Amino acid sequence: MIREITILPGYDKNGAAESFSSITLKAGETTSIVGPTGSGKTAFITDIELLAQKDTTTRRQVLINGDIPKDPYRYNPSIRPIAMITQNTKCFADLSTEEFLEVHARARKIKNSKAVITETIDLANTFTGEKITNISKVTVLSGGQTRALLIADALLIGAAPIILLDEIENAGIFKQEIINIIQKTSKMVLFVTHDPVIALLTKKRIIMENGAVKKVIFQNETETQAAENLLELDKRVGILREKLRAGYELTDDSFRVKFA
Ligand SMILES: Nc1ncnc2c1ncn2[C@@H]1O[C@H](COP(=O)(O)OP(=O)(O)OP(=O)(O)O)[C@@H](O)[C@H]1O
Ligand SMILES: [Mg+2]
Repeated sequence: MIREITILPGYDKNGAAESFSSITLKAGETTSIVGPTGSGKTAFITDIELLAQKDTTTRRQVLINGDIPKDPYRYNPSIRPIAMITQNTKCFADLSTEEFLEVHARARKIKNSKAVITETIDLANTFTGEKITNISKVTVLSGGQTRALLIADALLIGAAPIILLDEIENAGIFKQEIINIIQKTSKMVLFVTHDPVIALLTKKRIIMENGAVKKVIFQNETETQAAENLLELDKRVGILREKLRAGYELTDDSFRVKFA
């Protein structure tokens, strides 16, 4: 059982040692990774994906339950404890979504897989606007649909207790559903994100700069409240976005925002 993972410091892009002593992430905890373009966010979660042992560019080390992970954890795909979904993640198999999930469920020895497969496709459909059916071929799914399916699969079928998501909000995945994951998951979920709502709703946020962790911030009450307000604002922006897409023209001031 993976209760926690620990990240030990490496070096920034100039070769200077990182200033944190260790970062521990626990099951059921959500964390966001934020920072400017090129600051090392993807490199940070890739270290976790690879269970780095001072052997990546950052020279960080990752421990599982306080120990150096055993080799099979790193090299045996069937017991790898980590699922990573990035903007480029694609499915290559020539299978329908149902067959694809079936193969996965069988590998996990799940009984009555039909129910969980239906549940997974339904969950994927709550993440994205373009409907996925059980006969859609996985190779022809759009980028957003593919990521929606893989996230649902990682949450409901996959055994991996750690899920790494790299900028999925840009894939058109619905934010409210991402937030539901944040609030309900029993897994360890890390989001690389540029979205303030996601960043403020995760329990921890890791700030990156120049290839190094600059700071780790723990969410406070005020931030949770601010995130709720931002979400409201975001919904209004969403309504406007849909109207503009449909050819609407603004003729009154109902979308005027007053700043104090
Ligand atoms: N500590 C480090 N030492 C050396 N190279 C690093 C380090 N961290 C990141 N890099 C390298 O810097 C480049 C940019 O890093 P990365 O892709 O992780 O940035 P990012 O924050 O994900 O950017 P974006 O927001 O554009 O996706 C990569 O080539 C990465 O390998
Ligand atoms: Mg990146």
